[in-house]
Amino acid sequence: MEKDLQDLHKKYLESNQPSTASSSAKLWVVASGKGGVGKTFVSSSLGITLSKLGHSVVVVDLDLSGANLHTSLGIQPSHMNIRHYFEGSKNLQELVIPTAFPNLSYVQGFWDSWSPTEFSFDQISNIIPQLKNLRADYVIVDLGAGAMEPNLELFTKADERFLVSTPEPTSIEKTYRFLESFVCYSLKHQATPEAFENMITTLRSYRQRTLGRPFSFRSYLKTEAGFNHDFFESLSQSPVRLIMNCSRSQSNQDLGRSMKSVCYKYYDLGIDYVGCIPYDNAVWQSIRSREHVLSAQPFTPLAGEFLTTCKQLIDPEELRAVL
Ligand SMILES: Nc1ncnc2c1ncn2[C@@H]1O[C@H](COP(=O)(O)OP(=O)(O)OP(=O)(O)O)[C@@H](O)[C@H]1O
Ligand SMILES: [Mg+2]
Repeated sequence: MEKDLQDLHKKYLESNQPSTASSSAKLWVVASGKGGVGKTFVSSSLGITLSKLGHSVVVVDLDLSGANLHTSLGIQPSHMNIRHYFEGSKNLQELVIPTAFPNLSYVQGFWDSWSPTEFSFDQISNIIPQLKNLRADYVIVDLGAGAMEPNLELFTKADERFLVSTPEPTSIEKTYRFLESFVCYSLKHQATPEAFENMITTLRSYRQRTLGRPFSFRSYLKTEAGFNHDFFESLSQSPVRLIMNCSRSQSNQDLGRSMKSVCYKYYDLGIDYVGCIPYDNAVWQSIRSREHVLSAQPFTPLAGEFLTTCKQLIDPEELRAVL
């Protein structure tokens, strides 16, 4: 793996190719149930790794609760931020700012203390086609924490959806809650109102231990009328990608696998445990010195983890770098 990383990094430093993106960009969305678990670090690291693989990438900060993607990338916040898009004075493409990383640009999030702290549903549903129209191979969105409707809408419409957790019980609990909210949100749009209402009633009695039998989303849909029965089949084509961040031990690493099997067991829901990122002091130290850890230390297991994840998810034909 270290050889892979060294070759890749050498090529990356030598290359300065402009974007060749023509068709619509692939939208990757990074979310979490709990705040502070590493979404922004994961978003910036996925962006840097994809750009090292020769793809043009735009990372977009859509965390209204406190945009700080620029900090993770080691750059000063720009006054040209996404507020200009929402106010209608700029289109999204005009807000794309290059970074020092070849092939990697970003869109600055709200930097105004007087701005609202949540997007409206309409704002988010209108921006989705604009994100996909950006001139890039990949657009990565860094969300704020939580399963609010606008976040779920973006998560649902993504080509790849990443859910970041840490091994802390508080984070794991909120990760399950996010997953359940995502399933319910998706089903709401694929069911008749009565069928959805009945499902919530059944789920509630399962939660309150009055149902008297296990609850499985998939089995429930199969037996009840009013649902799109293909929902779980289509979800398994593009499953939620779980990332366990800040792992400090083998048992932390195994936790992701346990979560995957719990999802199967209790909800009949397939998720993909795509990566386990070690806790590394170099991450916060490099943020402090304003140089991203993947640039300051490009050959570590941490960098290898992101490389493996990206190689797994991009089309093999698109692996342009010689590895
Ligand atoms: N693998 C890691 N090892 C060590 N520190 C990490 C790791 N991942 C993230 N951190 C540190 O944890 C802190 C929170 O990370 P980050 O800002 O990416 O989380 P977040 O989920 O985006 O937070 P928020 O919900 O506030 O947007 C940062 O200081 C970051 O440096
Ligand atoms: Mg963040």
